[in-house]
Amino acid sequence: MQINKNKKIAIITGASSGFGVEFSKRIDSLREIEEIWLIARREQKLLNTSKQLKNAKSLVIVSDLSSKEGISKIKKLLEKEKPEVKFLINNAGFGKTEKFEYSDDDYNEKMIDVNVKAQVMVTKLVLPYMSEGSYIANVASSAAYAPLPYFAVYAASKAFILSFSYSLKEELRHKNISVTAVCPGPAGTEFFKSVKGNKVNGLSIRDPKLVIRKAMVDILKRRSVSVYGLDMNLLRIISKLLPRKILAYFSSKVKLPD
Ligand SMILES: NC(=O)c1ccc[n+]([C@@H]2O[C@H](COP(=O)([O-])OP(=O)(O)OC[C@H]3O[C@@H](n4cnc5c(N)ncnc54)[C@H](OP(=O)(O)O)[C@@H]3O)[C@@H](O)[C@H]2O)c1
Repeated sequence: MQINKNKKIAIITGASSGFGVEFSKRIDSLREIEEIWLIARREQKLLNTSKQLKNAKSLVIVSDLSSKEGISKIKKLLEKEKPEVKFLINNAGFGKTEKFEYSDDDYNEKMIDVNVKAQVMVTKLVLPYMSEGSYIANVASSAAYAPLPYFAVYAASKAFILSFSYSLKEELRHKNISVTAVCPGPAGTEFFKSVKGNKVNGLSIRDPKLVIRKAMVDILKRRSVSVYGLDMNLLRIISKLLPRKILAYFSSKVKLPD
C-alpha cells in the first residue's frame, strides 16, 4: 500500500470534550501536522474543537465507537485518503461508580466496547498507516493500577489498556513507533462533572490542560507511561508494592463519587 506522505495527520478519539480537546490543541501547536481527525459522537462539540485549531486543518468524524459502523467509518476514510498517521490518540472512554450487581448490562457492554474494544480495533486499523517515528497514546487511568470495587468494570477496562500498551510498545519497538499509556487521576472534564468541590476522596481534581500538557511531553519523549501529580505517582508506587487483594480491600473502603 502506498501511503500519501504529503498528508501527515493525527487521529484523536473522544475529541469533543475534556482531554480530547486538550490533545487536539497541543498537537495542533506542534505545527507538524496538516490535518487532525477529530472523532466522537457529538458533531457540534467536535466543530467547537475544530474552531480552536490554529494551524492544522481538521476533519470532523461523527462516529459511535461502540458500534461496528463507527469503526468501519474510520477504516473507509483511511482506505480512501491513505494518510500518514503521525499521532494516534486513543482517548474516548467513559465510566461511572456503582455496585456491579445493580449495574446496567447495556451500559457495561458499551463501556467495554469503547474503553477496550475500540482502542484495540482502531489501533489495528491505523497501524498500517503509521511510519517510523510515529506516536500512539492510549488513555488509560490511575484506575488501571489496582482493582477498584464499585468501579470494577471501568478499572478492569483501564488495566487492559495499560497492559496492552506495554505489550504493543515492545512489538513496535523495531519500527520506532512508541506507545504511551496515559494514566490520569481525577481531572475536571465532563467525566467528573457531577463532583462538587475540587477534591474527590482526598485527591485533587486536576486541570485537564495541565494533565495533557504533561502527557504530551511524555508522549514526545516516548515514555511508556504518563502520570501527572505527586499523589498519582505515589499511588502508582503503592500499587506496585502491595498485593491486589490488599489494594482491592482498601479501595473498597473509599467512597467514590456517585
Ligand atoms: N477525567 C478524569 O478524571 C479521567 C481520569 C482518568 C482517565 N480518564 C479517561 O480519559 C479519557 C477522556 O475522558 P475525559 O475525562 O476527557 O471525559 P469526557 O470529557 O467525558 O470525554 C470523553 C470523550 O469520549 C467520547 N466518547 C464517549 N463515548 C463514545 C462513543 N461511544 N463513541 C465515540 N466517542 C465516545 C466523548 O464524546 P461524545 O460523547 O461526543 O461521543 C468524549 O469526547 C477517557 O478514556 C477516560 O476514561 C479520565
